[in-house]
Amino acid sequence: MMAAAPAVETKDLVKVFERGRRTIWQRLRRERDKRDRFRAVDGIDLVVEPGEIFGLLGPNGAGKTTTMKMLATLLIPTSGTIRVLGIDPLARPRDVRARLGAMLSGERSLYWKLTARENLEYFAALYHVPPHEIKARIANVLAAAKLTDRADDYVERYSTGMRQRLALARALLPDPPLVVLDEPTVGLDPQASRDLRDRVRELKAQGRTVLLTTHYMEEADQLCDRVAIIDHGRIVALDTPAALKRTIRAEEVVHLEIGLDGDDSAVLDRLGQSAIVARSERSNGTLTVTAHCASARNFVPAAFDAARSTGSTIRHVEVVPVTLEDVFLALTGRALRE
Ligand SMILES: Nc1ncnc2c1ncn2[C@@H]1O[C@H](COP(=O)(O)OP(=O)(O)O)[C@@H](O)[C@H]1O
Ligand SMILES: [Mg+2]
Repeated sequence: MMAAAPAVETKDLVKVFERGRRTIWQRLRRERDKRDRFRAVDGIDLVVEPGEIFGLLGPNGAGKTTTMKMLATLLIPTSGTIRVLGIDPLARPRDVRARLGAMLSGERSLYWKLTARENLEYFAALYHVPPHEIKARIANVLAAAKLTDRADDYVERYSTGMRQRLALARALLPDPPLVVLDEPTVGLDPQASRDLRDRVRELKAQGRTVLLTTHYMEEADQLCDRVAIIDHGRIVALDTPAALKRTIRAEEVVHLEIGLDGDDSAVLDRLGQSAIVARSERSNGTLTVTAHCASARNFVPAAFDAARSTGSTIRHVEVVPVTLEDVFLALTGRALRE
């Protein structure tokens, strides 16, 4: 038997944008376009296997949404190839759209003056759901989004979390084997986020493939079978969350706040003898340090010695487990949130 095609496959996928806007004056005079061109997506190779929850994790501006839009036929790549369930979206966009449920802009594209059911009826017609199936499909997607009880309420009376779940319900209308979700929990409170993540896990349990983006490392860690860490349009690491965390060769992460008056290089040098200083930032009289170490039990006393011998004082110590944030930091030298 032939193996199933990957749910998503991209090869050297590139999207170039121009920065800024061309003025009408420049257009009228047919001036040469001198704007900067930059590669928002800069050569992405991805293989998402059927049935997995795959995450693109990266900071704002990394190119996540642009990648998703190219997969969902909403943007044309500058170069490279895409296959969605074995289909080329450039050649057969309708076939891709019929098999891919996309939640790219969430609640913003729902009609607030209609009920949830009316919204779904409208989108079912738009997505060419066969008329005799509409009722059953809507019942299914309402159940999948846990909105059955509230189906006949106006969307304007929904909470943000419910609207986001309705956006998910809408994405499921074509009964798609592949679901792509762009920052599904952004703007949701912790409870609503947890709830949405449970809905996403159910999609996997139903045998669907899920590709999602997030800039929340905990979300990628908890939800995804595999994660591609993306920065400046490139994949900088790709593996299971556990394997990614093993790559930084640290068992523990220590956050320190050190009070000092003078130069910080002496204390940083000393700290660097017993840990990897992944990040340090100075503001006013406080040096904040993130250190990756084999054992906090050994490193923390060494840090106090280092502080004492350089005339500084440790004001706060926190020992935390390794997270994907640390992996990102180790790879890029920057924090995800910056
Ligand atoms: N239509 C566009 N025209 C020009 N630049 C764009 C356009 N869409 C996105 N960008 C830029 O491309 C980069 C990547 O954006 P995006 O894919 O939205 O990142 P992310 O979703 O990871 O935050 C950003 O610098 C963004 O400003
Ligand atoms: Mg985005």
